[in-house]
Amino acid sequence: MKIESLKKIREQEEEARKRLSQIKHKLVVLSGKGGVGKSFITANLAAALAKKGFEVGVLDADIHGPSIPKMFGIHGQAIYAGPAGLLPIAGVGGVRVVSADLMLPDEDTALIWRGPLKTGFIRELLSMVAWGPLDFLLVDLPPGTGDEPLTIAQLIKDLSGAIVVTTPSDLTRIVVKKAITFCKQLNVPLLGVVNNMSHFTCPVCGTKHYIFGQAGTSRLTEETGVRVLADIPIDPRINESVDNGVPFVLAYPESETARSLMDLAERVVEALKATPEAAREGTSSSGQGP
Ligand SMILES: Nc1ncnc2c1ncn2[C@@H]1O[C@H](COP(=O)(O)OP(=O)(O)OP(=O)(O)O)[C@@H](O)[C@H]1O
Ligand SMILES: [Mg+2]
Repeated sequence: MKIESLKKIREQEEEARKRLSQIKHKLVVLSGKGGVGKSFITANLAAALAKKGFEVGVLDADIHGPSIPKMFGIHGQAIYAGPAGLLPIAGVGGVRVVSADLMLPDEDTALIWRGPLKTGFIRELLSMVAWGPLDFLLVDLPPGTGDEPLTIAQLIKDLSGAIVVTTPSDLTRIVVKKAITFCKQLNVPLLGVVNNMSHFTCPVCGTKHYIFGQAGTSRLTEETGVRVLADIPIDPRINESVDNGVPFVLAYPESETARSLMDLAERVVEALKATPEAAREGTSSSGQGP
């Protein structure tokens, strides 16, 4: 690599570090597995934290399949640059969003990029976005433990923690364990696991149906020692709320799923009060305040 480009990379990293220093807690939401609800959990955790009065931003780091803007009702809008840098767009509920989706000419355009381009794009974004002071920045990651998670973990050295999304099946457990290994190897503190689609509660009789079983998540926590932060039930109205661009916690605040998401936000706030050592292992939520 040319000395010129190395210099530019260092400058961008330094600029990113300065900008991110205004953000109190930087969290990643990941899972080895696709389609388990990472983006849904990210968007709703962000909306829940904003509802509690925190200033919250979401970086959609899923470059190939960005879905966060749609969940906040801002799909189709365009990010523009002001004197301070790239300006995030405020979604429903006041969460500030940055996503490749907000930079593409139309919704059919695909970014067909290999690793180095993706790494460069994320680095440039982090060096340019004017988030302003935030309490929380949530990073929604694509499935797997490839370029995007690695780039984020390397660029945001002071990540406050990782939230690992799983579903109760045993197949998911096997893949999600890899995401937990990833966090441990990169020294990213594990706040805990979110057991999404945990069950479905019959709206008529109130019976809980464990559609995907329960074994996978129990085994996952036994094998890794990482605690469950929340069980998030299935609610068929979720897709409707995504289509309407309103986070579920705001669309159906009285539902069991929305209440579980609000509890998740509370647990995350508590987990961040844990000692860094306990948070690193994802095993305790006691300790001093942040
Ligand atoms: N608890 C739930 N109940 C019902 N539907 C859900 C629930 N969680 C997520 N979904 C739905 O499941 C689908 C996948 O969710 P989402 O896009 O958040 O997954 P993901 O892990 O981010 O996927 P990808 O790996 O493609 O990024 C979406 O249609 C979402 O609305
Ligand atoms: Mg996603």
